[in-house]
Amino acid sequence: MLWLLLPFVYLFKCTTTQFAPAPPVETPLKLKVGLLIPKDDPDLAPKMGYRRTAAAVSLAFDRILYEQMLPSDTNFTIVWRTEECQEITSAGLSFELLEKEDVDMLIASPCNEPAMITSTIGASFNRPVFLWGATTSGEFSQMQRFPTIATVVPNTFDMALTICTMMQEFDWQKFALIYTNTETKGEKCGYLQQDIEKATDVLFGCTISYKRRVVDWHDDRLNTTLEQVKHNARVVVLCFDRLADLRQFLLKIHDHGMDNEEYVYILPDVSSNPSDRLNFYKDLSLNPDNRDNDALQVAKRTLLLDSSLISEIKFKNFSEQLLRRMDEYPFYCRQECSKEVNASTFAALLHDTTILWGLTLNHTMSRNKTMYRNGTQVALNAAGIEFEGMTGTVNINGNSTRDTIYSLSGFDKTNNLQVYMKFIMNERQVVSLSILF
Ligand SMILES: *[C@@H]1O[C@H](CO)[C@@H](O)[C@H](O)[C@H]1NC(C)=O
Ligand SMILES: *[C@@H]1O[C@H](CO)[C@@H](O)[C@H](O)[C@H]1NC(C)=O
Ligand SMILES: *[C@@H]1O[C@H](CO)[C@@H](O)[C@H](O)[C@H]1NC(C)=O
Ligand SMILES: *[C@@H]1O[C@H](CO)[C@@H](O)[C@H](O)[C@H]1NC(C)=O
Ligand SMILES: *[C@@H]1O[C@H](CO)[C@@H](O)[C@H](O)[C@H]1NC(C)=O
Ligand SMILES: *[C@@H]1O[C@H](CO)[C@@H](O)[C@H](O)[C@H]1NC(C)=O
Ligand SMILES: *[C@@H]1O[C@H](CO)[C@@H](O)[C@H](O)[C@H]1NC(C)=O
Ligand SMILES: *[C@@H]1O[C@H](CO)[C@@H](O)[C@H](O)[C@H]1NC(C)=O
Repeated sequence: MLWLLLPFVYLFKCTTTQFAPAPPVETPLKLKVGLLIPKDDPDLAPKMGYRRTAAAVSLAFDRILYEQMLPSDTNFTIVWRTEECQEITSAGLSFELLEKEDVDMLIASPCNEPAMITSTIGASFNRPVFLWGATTSGEFSQMQRFPTIATVVPNTFDMALTICTMMQEFDWQKFALIYTNTETKGEKCGYLQQDIEKATDVLFGCTISYKRRVVDWHDDRLNTTLEQVKHNARVVVLCFDRLADLRQFLLKIHDHGMDNEEYVYILPDVSSNPSDRLNFYKDLSLNPDNRDNDALQVAKRTLLLDSSLISEIKFKNFSEQLLRRMDEYPFYCRQECSKEVNASTFAALLHDTTILWGLTLNHTMSRNKTMYRNGTQVALNAAGIEFEGMTGTVNINGNSTRDTIYSLSGFDKTNNLQVYMKFIMNERQVVSLSILF
């Protein structure tokens, strides 16, 4: 329970660093954003790579001006540096952007470890750092450790608390946890597993009865895993970072006859992509195995627990605009970006974190015009902000992190997803729960 007591003690102590004096406020206001972003890593590029995400920042600038969050003559500049979620590269580039480029705000790498490094360096300069992408670690809500950050990314600790609340709500005593955890950057299941452990440590009535990481796909090992599940649980949380792996496991569940009414499978954040959420049980490859029906039998026993529901129609429009903006100032990515057909859903978080910065500056500058790059002050001012973003309603709590609204859905008779329930977080507690069916 120590983590409950720590935050306030250090809040002010750690922020007294050697600040460079704030530059005088120019009119018109000039703001420079430093963006750290992956580009060519084959695992990261499709999910959160530059070509499919960067112009989300431009679209957010447009909205900041259009909604008059900042003066209409504000001059925004973006400087970006490529880092493939590497800690060392990220550290060097954070220094470069803060010192040489003298940016007013940093958007950190979309992966947990490098974002933590940028957040620490940002704190030592007392410059604001905003987070996006897969920076899902619950540690970002420790304000004494990261006093200058604000984030719109739902974190896995809140997800874990929500899973426990759900277990209590349905009076399910214990559950099994099956997950993958590869070395691939930007994947979340390993973090979720750690945070579920932490949550079950502090909450009574939330017990893991069996836990297994799927390391390989040897038949005998999977058979053992499933037999163990059979002996230990009827509620199973499945976290697979790749949809193909999830489907393969669903088929195994079917083969073992574990797709009857005795079992329930909880899938935390299957995908933020609406069509993937609907089709995760289908084999969309060129050589389909014709087993979609088997996988569907299991899918009908699943409940999807999602931290954000991106509206398909809104996202389509956003995606088209984003790709168009990649071709223009300042990215001019015409040739290089010509192969992209749509934006990544992570771009929605990049957009929302930039909007959050705009709103935070509005609050900060309304009080004191010179404070706009005082990271501590900017992060404090993020508290309590609420807006409608590309990832749904964004609510920021007292720790400058997001209070997420989780939706629980399942397949109805016509194989469409229905939202059954919502869990609303408030400062690390699920405070309200609405039942929609
Ligand atoms: C903050 O936003 C409000 C409402 O859009 C606007 O009236 C005000 O001028 C903004 N403040 C600054 C400092 O731009
Ligand atoms: C914005 O600032 C940059 C850098 O100072 C400058 O090159 C650019 O011309 C400015 N843009 C506008 C529209 O004033
Ligand atoms: C694993 O279980 C499946 C389904 O029960 C069975 O068909 C298969 O032979 C088993 N494999 C091994 C290696 O035991
Ligand atoms: C797409 O978004 C733009 C900017 O937000 C808006 O002006 C436009 O009406 C939207 N188009 C559709 C079809 O929703
Ligand atoms: C982008 O397009 C690809 C290929 O058409 C599709 O598989 C994917 O679901 C789309 N992604 C989004 C976020 O719409
Ligand atoms: C704004 O903040 C600066 C730096 O902390 C301080 O010197 C100044 O007095 C403040 N101005 C107002 C109007 O509070
Ligand atoms: C930055 O903001 C913090 C928190 O409000 C304040 O304690 C500190 O004096 C500010 N620093 C400067 C240089 O204004
Ligand atoms: C901040 O997070 C800590 C746990 O890391 C929690 O105990 C505390 O209640 C949170 N404070 C606020 C204001 O959300």
